[in-house]
Amino acid sequence: MSIETLSWVGGVSDGFLRLIDQTLLPLRLCMIDCRSTESVWEAIKQLRVRGAPAIGIAAAYGMVIGVQNVGLNLFEKRFYNVAQYLASSRPTAVNLFWAIDRMKRRFESVKPMLSSGGSDVIVQILDELFSEARKIHEEDRAICRAIGNYGQSIIKNGDTFITHCNAGGLATADYGTALAVFFTAVEGGKKISVYADETRPLLQGARLTAWELMERGINVTLICDSMAAMVMRQGKVNGVIVGADRIAANGDTANKIGTYGLAISAYVHGIPFYVAAPSSTFDLALADGAGIPIEERGADEICCSFGVRTAPEGVAVYNPAFDVTPAKFINSIITERGIITPVNKENIEKLITNTNR
Ligand code: MRU
Repeated sequence: MSIETLSWVGGVSDGFLRLIDQTLLPLRLCMIDCRSTESVWEAIKQLRVRGAPAIGIAAAYGMVIGVQNVGLNLFEKRFYNVAQYLASSRPTAVNLFWAIDRMKRRFESVKPMLSSGGSDVIVQILDELFSEARKIHEEDRAICRAIGNYGQSIIKNGDTFITHCNAGGLATADYGTALAVFFTAVEGGKKISVYADETRPLLQGARLTAWELMERGINVTLICDSMAAMVMRQGKVNGVIVGADRIAANGDTANKIGTYGLAISAYVHGIPFYVAAPSSTFDLALADGAGIPIEERGADEICCSFGVRTAPEGVAVYNPAFDVTPAKFINSIITERGIITPVNKENIEKLITNTNR
């Protein structure tokens, strides 16, 4: 993709965050400019920017925007208010909280400067915050490439994989996580095919993954979520790769609603099921998936998605946006540090420590 999912435009003190508005894809490729913390919060909440790593990057830049024109006396209070506010946008993807924590740590390392009261202190602190946000953004590019490089080893020439939701360039700074594996395999000369689950109710698979794969010339076939089990039974699939929003210490993995059902189908049919995610998606403070907060979204997304009413007015609706796949259904987790197999607490601890939090 030549257009970046997220980019910073302008200088540190007067710049803003430019995003692809993913709610409009694939019909229109439009950018939105976020010049306030509120607009960053809204973009995350409404899934204009989405996918765990991209949400974290957006929030980091949002924390810079939130303190751009704040004086010395109010700076600290405002900074923590902005952090708290952005953390309230979406609950499941731990990358959001991880990025906010990194920004807080960077602020805390320079906070003593505030008491010196010099005229350029604010400029210096803003520079520090911006450089941390930029670092989070840049690191994610390298992480995507590393995940792709490790992951491509699980794909053989001629394989067909299923993926769910969108864990591609639109969900990250660069190349994606699950989709990075496909992109790298194809760059390495392998011929592959992909089934993209449409991903009800917001259709990230149909609108975003199918679009991204087609843009890169990868052979993609769109299926409804309910067709995946049948396609597996027909012997058309060699493996499944999905992204993740939060992975507990034992490997239980939260990802887009429908992932759990897909994993069970793969298990029943003896098809390997892989998760591709950066180390920032692990939440080692949670022993297992039971503690992962699952976002519930509004009824309209199911009854009236994309402006067309498809259910009776007033019907009761339950709309969890994510589910948790137990570790026992996951063959491997592909990270930028290597591949975790089998997926268990010991192997996760070996590769992922809390040092990056
Ligand atoms: O609600 P979304 O579109 O933000 O959900 C995204 C997913 O579930 C992705 O699979 C996950 O965040 C990984 S993105 C690399």
